Amino acid sequence: MNYQEAYEKLEKYGQLHVLKYYEELDDGEKEALLLQIEQTDFEVLSLCEKKEALNPRGKIEPIEVMQLPEIEKKRDEYTKIGLDAIRAGKVGAVLLAGGMGTRLGSDAPKGVYNIGLTKEVFIFQRLIENLMDVVEQAGAWVPLYVMTSDKNHDTTVRFFEDKKYFGYNADYVTFFMQDMAPASDYQGRVYMEAKNKMSTSPNGNGGWFLSMKKWGVTDKVRQDGVEWLNVFAVDNVLQRIADPCFVGATIATDSAVGAKVVAKTAADEKVGAMCLEDGRPSIVEYYDMTPELMAAKNAQGGPAYHFGVILNYLFRVKDLEDIVARRLPLHIVEKKIPYLDEKGELVKPEEPNGYKFEQLVLDMIHELDSCLPYEVVRSREFAPIKNKTGIDSVESARKLCEENGIEL
Ligand code: UTP
Repeated sequence: MNYQEAYEKLEKYGQLHVLKYYEELDDGEKEALLLQIEQTDFEVLSLCEKKEALNPRGKIEPIEVMQLPEIEKKRDEYTKIGLDAIRAGKVGAVLLAGGMGTRLGSDAPKGVYNIGLTKEVFIFQRLIENLMDVVEQAGAWVPLYVMTSDKNHDTTVRFFEDKKYFGYNADYVTFFMQDMAPASDYQGRVYMEAKNKMSTSPNGNGGWFLSMKKWGVTDKVRQDGVEWLNVFAVDNVLQRIADPCFVGATIATDSAVGAKVVAKTAADEKVGAMCLEDGRPSIVEYYDMTPELMAAKNAQGGPAYHFGVILNYLFRVKDLEDIVARRLPLHIVEKKIPYLDEKGELVKPEEPNGYKFEQLVLDMIHELDSCLPYEVVRSREFAPIKNKTGIDSVESARKLCEENGIEL
C-alpha cells in the first residue's frame, strides 16, 4: 500500500492522525507503518459507539449436561473410544497462548510464569506434564498446536526450545500466530504506541481456527488425519488435555463439540454458563446473567444454569470447516493501552483508557448444531491463574496443585 492509498483508507475511517509523524520516519519505518495500515481492520473501531446494542441475546433455556454419575457409569466404555481415537492420531490439542495476561501483571507470556516454590514449575511445563499422562496412557503422541501473538511469539518459541519442550516430542509441536486488532480510546480513535506503529492487542481467542488456516496449519491437520481438536487455555494448571474419557463421550454422543464444565460455586460466579439460546447450544456470560436467570430452576428443581465452562472444548474439525467463514460477535473490552501523548512520548497508563476488540472461542459453540456439556470435578481440573493474588490466582492454583499431589 502506498502513502496515497493509506491516506484514503484512514480518511474513510476518521483515523488520519496515524500519519502525524510520517514525515519524521526513515524509509523502513514508513514501510512498516504503511503495511500495518494495509493489514488493519478499522471497521471494528466504529462499533464502540453502539457497544451496548452489539450482541443482543436470544431466548435462553437450560441445556442437558452429562453429569458425573452418568460419566462414572460409562467411564470404561468412553475411555476406550477416546484412547482408540488418540492412538489412531485423530486427536490434536490447541493451546491458546496468545493472550496478554495483563491481570497477572507480567509482560512475559503467561506460560513462562514460574509457580514453583522449591523448584521451577512453569505454567507451560504443567500443561505438558498433564498432556504427557495421556501420551503415556495411549502410547502415542498427541499433535500440539500452540497459538501465540505478535506480542509473545518469539519469547514463547524460544522458551520451548530452551526447555527442550519439557520432554515433549518437538516433531509434534507446531506454533502459529493469531491476528492483532487496533486498540483505541473511548471514541474509537486508534492509539499510537510508536511514531510508526498503531497500538494493537491480540484479537481474542475466537480466531484460533481462522489463524490456523492462515498459517497453513489446518493443511497439516488434514494431512495428519486429525479429526478432533481439543482447545484449551494456557492458564489452567490442572487442565486435562486430550482426556480420553471426554474424547470418547464426545465421539460416542456424535456431538460437534464437547465442552468441559464445572458446577458453579455461586449463581453469580464469574464463569460463562452453558445453556440453549434460541434452541441452539450456547454460553451465557456472567455479565449477561440476569437475576431471573440466576434464580431459574430446571425440570428437577435444581439451578437451571449451574454449569460453567472452563475453556476446554473438543471440536470436530469437519464442523469447524463449515463455520469458519462466519463472523463471530465482537466483544469490546476496557483496557490499559500504552500510547504516545501530544509530545510524542510513550505513556503506560495505570487505569483503563480505552478499548480492545475481541472475538471469543465460546461464541463458536452457538454456531455448531450439537454440543455435549461434560461435567468434571472442579478441584481436580480447574485451577486458573488470572490474578497475582486472591481468586483465580497463583496462590489459589498452588493450593489446588498441592491438593492434587503436584510438587511445587
Ligand atoms: P483471558 O480471557 O484470560 O485473557 O484468556 P488474557 O489476555 O490471557 O488475560 P488478561 O485478561 O489480559 O489478564 C483466556 C485464554 O485465551 C487466550 C489466553 O492466552 C488464555 O489461554 N487468549 C486470550 C488468546 O490466545 N488470545 C487472545 O487474544 C486472548
